Amino acid sequence: MPKQRASWGTRIGLILAVAGNAIGLGNFLRFPVQAAQNGGGAFMIPYFTAFILLGIPLMWLEWAIGRHGGKYGHGSTPGMFDVLWKNKVAKYLGALGLWNSAVILIYYSYIESWTLGFSIFSALKLYFDETTFDGMRNFLQSYQGLVPGDHFDSILPAYVLMAVVLGLNFWILAQGLTKGIEKLAKIAMPALFLFAIVLVVRVFTLGTPDPSHPDWNVTNGLAFIWNPDFSQLSSAKVWLAAAGQIFFTLSVGMGSIQAYASYLREKDDIALSGLTTSATNEFAEVVLGGSIAIPVAVAFFGLAQTREIAAGGAFNLGFVSMPIIFTKIPVGPLFGTLWFLLLFFAGITSSVAMAQPVIAFLQDEFGVSHKKATMIVALVTLVCIQPVVFFLGQGFLDEMDFWAGTFGLAVFALVETLIFMWIFGADRAWAEIKLGADIRVPSIFKFILKYVTPLYLLFILAMWTFQQAVPTLLMKGVPQENQPSIWGSRALMAGLLVAFVVLIRFAWQRRDLRQRP
Ligand code: PHE
Repeated sequence: MPKQRASWGTRIGLILAVAGNAIGLGNFLRFPVQAAQNGGGAFMIPYFTAFILLGIPLMWLEWAIGRHGGKYGHGSTPGMFDVLWKNKVAKYLGALGLWNSAVILIYYSYIESWTLGFSIFSALKLYFDETTFDGMRNFLQSYQGLVPGDHFDSILPAYVLMAVVLGLNFWILAQGLTKGIEKLAKIAMPALFLFAIVLVVRVFTLGTPDPSHPDWNVTNGLAFIWNPDFSQLSSAKVWLAAAGQIFFTLSVGMGSIQAYASYLREKDDIALSGLTTSATNEFAEVVLGGSIAIPVAVAFFGLAQTREIAAGGAFNLGFVSMPIIFTKIPVGPLFGTLWFLLLFFAGITSSVAMAQPVIAFLQDEFGVSHKKATMIVALVTLVCIQPVVFFLGQGFLDEMDFWAGTFGLAVFALVETLIFMWIFGADRAWAEIKLGADIRVPSIFKFILKYVTPLYLLFILAMWTFQQAVPTLLMKGVPQENQPSIWGSRALMAGLLVAFVVLIRFAWQRRDLRQRP
């Protein structure tokens, strides 16, 4: 008999925790940039298509796999797959569910630490004498240790904040499920929504900040993000970007939703909870995330420059363009603090979720105590994050983001869909999703999950392989001097994957030994 597992305290706590898992930097930084780069309003068509055909079905599937695995005492995907498919390889396929979330955790928590840093810098008005893009970029890059600057002459502040943020994450995790993750969500999520709404109201009441440019206003900013450019729909790139965004923002394809769902009770609803958390995430993303950074950039810098800002990526938008705006508005330090605290709360409720699968793996499969498992994952993360900090400028982080944060998600999602819908079997899988359901799940989703989702995933993977994976693998367009760092990034990722496979092997050998009479 599996020993007594931890479980969620309240339903609202569970919903907030899973919403906190999903709502992250992806909603407020990644989404607006993706939308702006990929056809504005037209992006919403492939985006919502991916939400309905991939996002919602995978969310239900992952909740179901998680709750089912939890019943057998497994909080991570190796054990969950092992009980779904009686085959020796099943558990090894589950290694991907540990690997994706662990790799994302390693780079994500570093970015998260910048948001805490910048909320402090906003409150202290540290960047308020920088009013140009070059100046503000220099502020960010000198903080990151990439260039010498007037404000930071070493990477030390960034390093210390990274350590503080990791410490905070693992301290919360060490408190356990209800006293740690759930309590964090109950505090951070309402605060996050409050901050976001305050910021949206501020953006909507800006009007036309610069009277000499009457067309630089929020209405045009919203138009920029919402006006459909249908010509983009024929580009495969836009469809891939939309699917990638849906994966990342909903936290599907990483083993993280499954880990949270493993602490449900056997007959707890998953249909309504899964839908509620997906919908909450989409509200935070499309309505709140879409109404802040891009519209405000149009109001202050105009359309042409906003396009350039978006092309410069999420860090450029969040950590360069936004701070410049805070220097220009009344009570800017307050709004700056709110913006970066919003990002920080969004980030931390996600990063704890990335660590949970690995912690659960050590606890469930090796019988390590919760505190000890948390300590081990904390130490390994601290070691692995070092090159992310020191080789940031040489593409170390971006390499991880592509393989784990983009490609790996689709691979893992395909694997889990095939195992659940085709090997475990569509009828049993469907019954599992409906078990305890508080809503009627439309049966069309059984068909979608069995046929449409895997085909869609296969198609995306094939396209990604041709368009991005092969050029990325061959380092097309990567400057010579960055190549050692990228090899390093790959070596670290490969090492982690091998480590998980070996650990799984050990865990199951140990179990077989114990089960022998
Ligand atoms: N969904 C989170 C975001 O939008 C990221 C995340 C990835 C969370 C992996 C958990 C696990 O930022």
